[in-house]
Amino acid sequence: MREDRAVFGNEHRKLRFVDIFCGIGGFRIAFERAGAECVFSCDWDKFSQLTYAANFGETPQGDIHDVAVADIPKFDILCAGFPCQPFSLAGVSKKLSLGRKHGFDDEKQGNLFFDLASIISFHQPPAFVLENVKHLKRHDKGRTFEIIYRTLTEDLGYTVYYKVIDARSVVPQHRERIFLVGFKPLRYFEFPEFPAEGPKLETILAADVLDKYTLTDHLWQYLQDYAKKHQAAGNGFGFGLFTGKDVARTLSARYHKDGSEILISQGPRKNPRRLTPRECSRLMGYPDDFKIPVSDTQAYRQFGNSVVVPVVERIAKEVVLSLERPPNITPDLVLQVAERQQREALDMPLVRKKQVRYVVKRTKKD
Ligand SMILES: C[S@@+](CC[C@H](N)C(=O)[O-])C[C@H]1O[C@@H](n2cnc3c(N)ncnc32)[C@H](O)[C@@H]1O
Repeated sequence: MREDRAVFGNEHRKLRFVDIFCGIGGFRIAFERAGAECVFSCDWDKFSQLTYAANFGETPQGDIHDVAVADIPKFDILCAGFPCQPFSLAGVSKKLSLGRKHGFDDEKQGNLFFDLASIISFHQPPAFVLENVKHLKRHDKGRTFEIIYRTLTEDLGYTVYYKVIDARSVVPQHRERIFLVGFKPLRYFEFPEFPAEGPKLETILAADVLDKYTLTDHLWQYLQDYAKKHQAAGNGFGFGLFTGKDVARTLSARYHKDGSEILISQGPRKNPRRLTPRECSRLMGYPDDFKIPVSDTQAYRQFGNSVVVPVVERIAKEVVLSLERPPNITPDLVLQVAERQQREALDMPLVRKKQVRYVVKRTKKD
């Protein structure tokens, strides 16, 4: 890990980040490897808290709604993977037109994105990194992404760079996630390159695996029958059967149910098996000394919900570099970014104009 570095002006210190909806700390490992320091974490799931505490020696705060934004210590980067929920458009326009001090301080509004927006609005960090499923862009006919993007850019004044990244270049798993990286004031930023080819499952599979991970005859028969039924009906649902030479499908938080999305072949004379929690941890790019103090069920859920650590680590290093460089805001860069944002906004025409005007009006007033 790199030592203290110059950050802003004459101040010599590590960059500080907050780990919101931290789960088991995927963002934390990544940003610590990039040389930053975690000053606050929050997740209400008690089993994730156990894993987090076992690995980082601190128990995250619970429900974000019980945290007063002003009690969060000063920080430079907000990190969060947040649930993908639909917005009520009526709720959004009402919230934005109420003229509240920060616009988002209605604790019971029900959408966790607004909790993030509220923290960003209050603390005005120079950067944030948000992560979500690729589907966020299409969710609720594009409205969810549009509201998020416009809130971050037009209402909160950030320059936002976003990209869908497939983790398969760093782990043997096809897992596409959208990352939104924001800066205020504007900074130059580029997502790192992620080549299409990466490691195969053989790099993470254990040599000796307990028999309990092999599917019972009953479950294996059920999965095969289920797949046949759905294939006959013309839909592609079914199990995923892999060897060490393959790349796995996306590990889901429901893997504990039947493990059907990633089954490991054990040859013709043995039923396939599911991955062990340790193999799942490797599939998400966690180091082998990462402690797993919970049941298999909880561990599968936690890794299935997590970020892929080396993906975030590469992004984190770029974000840290961007923050360490002088902002260098040339007129060319301003123009380039303004044009890009305008293009992207024009690509999101779903929110009715009246509601978009609310957002723009508030920005001008602020
Ligand atoms: C997609 S997961 C994030 C996983 C994390 N990025 C990681 O690497 O492990 C979202 C997390 O948000 C947490 N969460 C959901 N609602 C919450 C709330 N109201 N307050 C605090 N945490 C919440 C869940 O418990 C879950 O762990």
